[in-house]
Amino acid sequence: MTMVTAKGSIQRRLMVSLLAGAALLAVALFFIVQSLARQLAEESQDNILLASATSILDASAVRQGELVLDLPYSAFSMLGNLSDDRVFYAVRFGADFITGYSDLEDVRGLGEARFETRDYLDEPVRVVALSRLLSISGRPTKLTVIIAQTRNGQRETLERISSIAATIGLGFFLAAAGLAALASRSAIRPLERLAVSVGRRGPQDLRPVAAPVPSEMVTLVAALNRFMERLKVSLARSEEFIAEAAHRVRTPLATVRTQADITLRRVDKEENRAALREMIRAIDESSRAAGQLLDHAMVTFRSDNLEHSALDVGQLAAEMVDRLHPLAELRDIDLVLDSTSGAMISGDTILIQNALRNLLDNAIKFSPAEGTVVVSVRRLENQVLLGVQDQGKGFPAEGRDRLTRRFARGSNAEGIIGSGLGLTIANEVALAHGGGVEIANNRKGPGACVTLSFPSA
Ligand SMILES: Nc1ncnc2c1ncn2[C@@H]1O[C@H](COP(=O)(O)OP(=O)(O)O)[C@@H](O)[C@H]1O
Ligand SMILES: [Mg+2]
Repeated sequence: MTMVTAKGSIQRRLMVSLLAGAALLAVALFFIVQSLARQLAEESQDNILLASATSILDASAVRQGELVLDLPYSAFSMLGNLSDDRVFYAVRFGADFITGYSDLEDVRGLGEARFETRDYLDEPVRVVALSRLLSISGRPTKLTVIIAQTRNGQRETLERISSIAATIGLGFFLAAAGLAALASRSAIRPLERLAVSVGRRGPQDLRPVAAPVPSEMVTLVAALNRFMERLKVSLARSEEFIAEAAHRVRTPLATVRTQADITLRRVDKEENRAALREMIRAIDESSRAAGQLLDHAMVTFRSDNLEHSALDVGQLAAEMVDRLHPLAELRDIDLVLDSTSGAMISGDTILIQNALRNLLDNAIKFSPAEGTVVVSVRRLENQVLLGVQDQGKGFPAEGRDRLTRRFARGSNAEGIIGSGLGLTIANEVALAHGGGVEIANNRKGPGACVTLSFPSA
């Protein structure tokens, strides 16, 4: 049997791509949440800085040609509410520095309110500069309030949100991984089911796969079905051919056999008689082989279209024993039936008769003269056993399991007519019924014991 090489795994590939997708999404989620959080934190700090600068500007005015500046408490308290970040400020009026930190520089740019992030006193700060024109002695002069705040609180918030985002991302990834495992397993389940159902089939079972499959597998299963159909047709054709050939050989052989018999009676010379007897033996062997080939073709055909009717194995065995009595008597062999009643199975009568006939044929063939052949029918819990026992030399010790193959004959069969199909037929009949065959020797005394088992009905 050739080995199938596995390359990759659909389930693993599916799993890997789903996991990669989930990881990518989780990382994206993390960064999106983080950047949103940063934006929000920055915006809220800007708003408070602006509100604080506005309240300082609003509280300042020019009275009697002088700038009156009142730094309202609320202007700084609202900044303090946000966190315990440090706050710096500076107020400039025209070119003059009025109050605050003199080295806190203005924010370059146009517009009333200007924002900037920069380092001040070796710390990153967010700075707002808000200006307004005040008229002093008839001259418009620019009043600018600059407020800066360190960003520790913002950084802390950001770190907290980042760690939450990371946890969410990780949880998201783990959940996705679980789902991916479920999804990939469920995706390949139909494939596994198909593999199991095809793998469980008997060697003779070439029926098309009828169970519904997912649309992706339809092509594969259709191809498989077509393949099995072709195989079945070609098997049937070769069986037909064998049967036809055997049939065509058998009829003329029968004629030759009759003629040889007649001639044997007429011939007196011992030398010629011996030759004729040899010839008759060869003819017998050929027609027997032809008969068994026909039987085998019939068994193969019927196994494919197995008829299931309730049948009593005990009764079947009794009929067969009756039928073969004359043949056994010819060789002084005692044919005995040892049977129980009610050994019912569901199966094909003709096939089982055929199998039993082949076993009896062997037993009679391999028995010593005046031996006893016992046909036994036993009922087990869910099995019916049909055994044939003789007192011959028994099976050779070696290669016993090979004997069910087509044309296989044992080393003990030398000089005994046969074609090596009897056990093949018996085995195939048992298999077709869901049973088996056991080839053994008698435990007590000499002789062979072949047992067919069938599931009971
Ligand atoms: N009752 C038996 N006693 C001993 N050997 C047997 C018996 N039945 C079968 N065998 C062995 O199994 C072989 C295969 O049997 P079978 O398939 O019936 O072929 P054939 O009877 O044509 O030789 C025989 O050649 C023989 O070696
Ligand atoms: Mg045989």
